Amino acid sequence: MTHTLPAIAPGRLPALLAAMPKAELHIHIEGSLEPEMVFALARRNGVALPWASVQELRRAYAFTDLQSFLDLYYQGAAVLRTEEDFYDLALAYLARAAMDNVVHAEIFFDPQTHTARGVAMDTVVRGLARACMDARQRHGIGATLILSFLRHLSEREAFETLEQALPLREHFIGVGLDSSELGHPPEKFERVFRRCRELGLHLVAHAGEEGPPAYIWQALDLLHAERIDHGVQAVHDAALVRRLASERIPLTVCPLSNQKLQVFPDLRQHNLKALLDAGLAATANSDDPAYFGGYLNENLRQVFDATGMGARHAWQLAHHSFEASFAPAADKARWNELLLDAFERHAASR
Ligand code: ADE
Ligand code: ZN
Repeated sequence: MTHTLPAIAPGRLPALLAAMPKAELHIHIEGSLEPEMVFALARRNGVALPWASVQELRRAYAFTDLQSFLDLYYQGAAVLRTEEDFYDLALAYLARAAMDNVVHAEIFFDPQTHTARGVAMDTVVRGLARACMDARQRHGIGATLILSFLRHLSEREAFETLEQALPLREHFIGVGLDSSELGHPPEKFERVFRRCRELGLHLVAHAGEEGPPAYIWQALDLLHAERIDHGVQAVHDAALVRRLASERIPLTVCPLSNQKLQVFPDLRQHNLKALLDAGLAATANSDDPAYFGGYLNENLRQVFDATGMGARHAWQLAHHSFEASFAPAADKARWNELLLDAFERHAASR
């Protein structure tokens, strides 16, 4: 799309990044669980914690790779027990996202980490869905849910999870695939995703976060994923990059996550700018903001600072986030108008 964008003075870029409307397409609701809320919910539910204080828990957020993070992430999620807990968690995230001018969020949830502890699927989904409804009234932000299968568990467990969730089908728009990537290729879930496709669910999958380009090919060809979550390893395969560009397959990239999990230990090495410049439909997202040091605008601020992206990249990221969302076309058109308004408000002549 070739838009004539108003010129933005470099000094106005940070304000524009913060103010522009945007969609968030890669956020794990359990990853928005702030340490303060871990302690508050542990107290409310009588759950014993292995950390003496919020500060001690925060100090444990020093990750060497994806698995070192996931170990802590699942431990933290263990304080979530009641429908109210899931409601409070999601409403807090949506209030925070609205402050970053996120107009629409598509939120992952990991039911298996909760059902394994004896929490009912109903409790999880109803709490999250009620928060999504209330957030629209209270904070003017739209939100939908995507059920994510844990790929370190079996195909059979994924099928069981799908069966448990189907009575609540109206509350989620699609399915995803997350957790430990290496050793758990997308092909493991081909039949589960085929079933989800027959059911008319949207399909996305984490691929190419730590895993090889082959996992991205599998997510596309075997799972029929409509978006690739992360996908930053695609750059190691020129044919894959050409395919992602020509088919406009969105990548939901998460800069601070990639830095904290040592995918790009130095944000200056991050390839988001290169992906955009190669014509890919990349978006920026926060992944697990409570663990990685920032919500969406902080991700934008730091990655723009580190890689020298400019106003056109800002427009591309926001525009791609709308186009890649599973929202109705009329919403996308409205958000694109708001995006141009934001550019005009921040233009050089103003
Ligand atoms: N679950 C939560 N965050 C994740 C990530 N970055 N990769 C895989 N699974 C996740
Ligand atoms: Zn993720």
